[in-house]
Amino acid sequence: METIRIATTPFEGQRPGTSGLRKKVKVFQQPGYLENFVQAILDTLPELQGGSLVVGGDGRYFNREAIQVILRLAAANGVRRLIVGRGGLFSTPAVSCVIRKHKTQGGIVLSASHNPGGPDEDFGIKFNSANGGPAPESVTEAIFERTKTIDRYLTLDTPPLDLDQLGTFTLGETEIEIIDPVSDYADLMEALFDFDAIHHLFNSGHFQMRFDAMHAITGPYAVEILENRLGAAPGTVMNGVPLEDFGGGHPDPNLAHAQELVALTQGKDGLDFGAASDGDGDRNMILGHDCFVTPSDSLAILAANAHLLPGYRQGIRGIARSMPTSQAANRVADFLGIECFETPTGWKFFGNLLDAGRITLCGEESFGTGSDHVREKDGLWAVLFWLNLLAVRQQSVAEILTDHWRRFGRNFYTRHDYEAVDLAAAAGLVDHLRRLLPDLPGRQLGAEIVSYADDFAYTDPIDGSVSEHQGLRIGFESGARIVYRLSGTGTSGATLRVYLEYFEPDPMLHQRDTQEAMRPLILIARELAQIEARTGRAEPDVVT
Ligand code: G6P
Ligand code: ZN
Repeated sequence: METIRIATTPFEGQRPGTSGLRKKVKVFQQPGYLENFVQAILDTLPELQGGSLVVGGDGRYFNREAIQVILRLAAANGVRRLIVGRGGLFSTPAVSCVIRKHKTQGGIVLSASHNPGGPDEDFGIKFNSANGGPAPESVTEAIFERTKTIDRYLTLDTPPLDLDQLGTFTLGETEIEIIDPVSDYADLMEALFDFDAIHHLFNSGHFQMRFDAMHAITGPYAVEILENRLGAAPGTVMNGVPLEDFGGGHPDPNLAHAQELVALTQGKDGLDFGAASDGDGDRNMILGHDCFVTPSDSLAILAANAHLLPGYRQGIRGIARSMPTSQAANRVADFLGIECFETPTGWKFFGNLLDAGRITLCGEESFGTGSDHVREKDGLWAVLFWLNLLAVRQQSVAEILTDHWRRFGRNFYTRHDYEAVDLAAAAGLVDHLRRLLPDLPGRQLGAEIVSYADDFAYTDPIDGSVSEHQGLRIGFESGARIVYRLSGTGTSGATLRVYLEYFEPDPMLHQRDTQEAMRPLILIARELAQIEARTGRAEPDVVT
């Protein structure tokens, strides 16, 4: 079959952000836009020629069209074998699992994660390396550089492939294998967790749960694992049918966007357990009866209990958390006598530590938790981890949480987001803070005394690469912290994130309301950054 060479010119702004290239669908629909980026990936990674690649996405609007484009370009560029999820679907952690299991040279994930989908909403694309994880910055920067000079792409003139039929097909010289997107992943979960124990919990007669797939990719995964393999009652998975626009919702599992589920866990007849995942299946939210587990606490609790579960019985080697994630995990690491790394925001920063065997568990405040079983954060994995824990400890979520705080103390934690802020105002606010930093140590703010203040930079302990300007940290003598960062995943204006944390050793004070307990620190943070004056916002848009 003849390879067609199409002349093209570069598009501005194809630099991948925290997690790949994310833009409005309309931007991706411009002729040549997606083609240029995919060709830039193929040009940057010569190992893909003659190699194999996994392709799939979260099923959002434009997923199917994008897959057809990618398959043609990959075939025209000499990729030997393409593994595609049926219907063009794969959750992000499943792509990671399949890359590793089938030993491919990488994968292309189509998703804008937790951002809404639909013709006027978001789309995204990212490249994952042979280890199954998001490509490191050196690779994403090289891809970006290539997008700036690209002058042609290679494709084939072929009709669209039927993505809904399992089997092996050919496209030019390339073999295309359409596989069930769920089974490899479900098998991996079965190898890590005690499915018998979870099955018993489900059948104990006194355990009620729901998993909210938010009409996104985890529906089919959760039905297969929770209902089919583990025997949860039919209907345990809610909003389980993936839709191109996620039913018009915002597929982000947090207290603001999963209100339906949150309500089900509250009050006299509230469920014992509620969990949700996001658009592409890598995030998780964990709820108990009348109780919410912050992602930071979740990481610490998983670390403290991992040895109770089959896949982690031998103990964990180390932990990593993103910088804005609370220091609760450090307390567990200290207790276990293992290392705890502080990395910049973005799952890609965990990759080297996982590959080098320095860490087993990692997590982020942004509802991401994972381990060395794949190289992405993994929503359903976290849910199964919790279910296995509940089954083994025979305690409720609230009991496990309270127990943990009693043992290690509580790191109260909240994040305040100011969304769609004017770009110049956001940049001005960060500049203002940056200028203040050198004079802060030793200063008293409210009742707190600053012990350090810096612009976070990270040197990767494995490859020595340095990432600068990863957020502004202000640490207090009490152990409290304020972190300011601009989101790397937003698509309109700037999103200012303010992360707040303070440590409370006294169990008598552990049940306080978070926002109330953190009020003094919240006020310090607002005042120091002049948030209202600079952004016009008196209150954050989202509090998690
Ligand atoms: C994505 C990334 C995470 C990151 C999160 C928040 O989910 O995979 O690694 O923590 O976005 O990023 P942001 O830059 O928006 O704070
Ligand atoms: Zn996601």
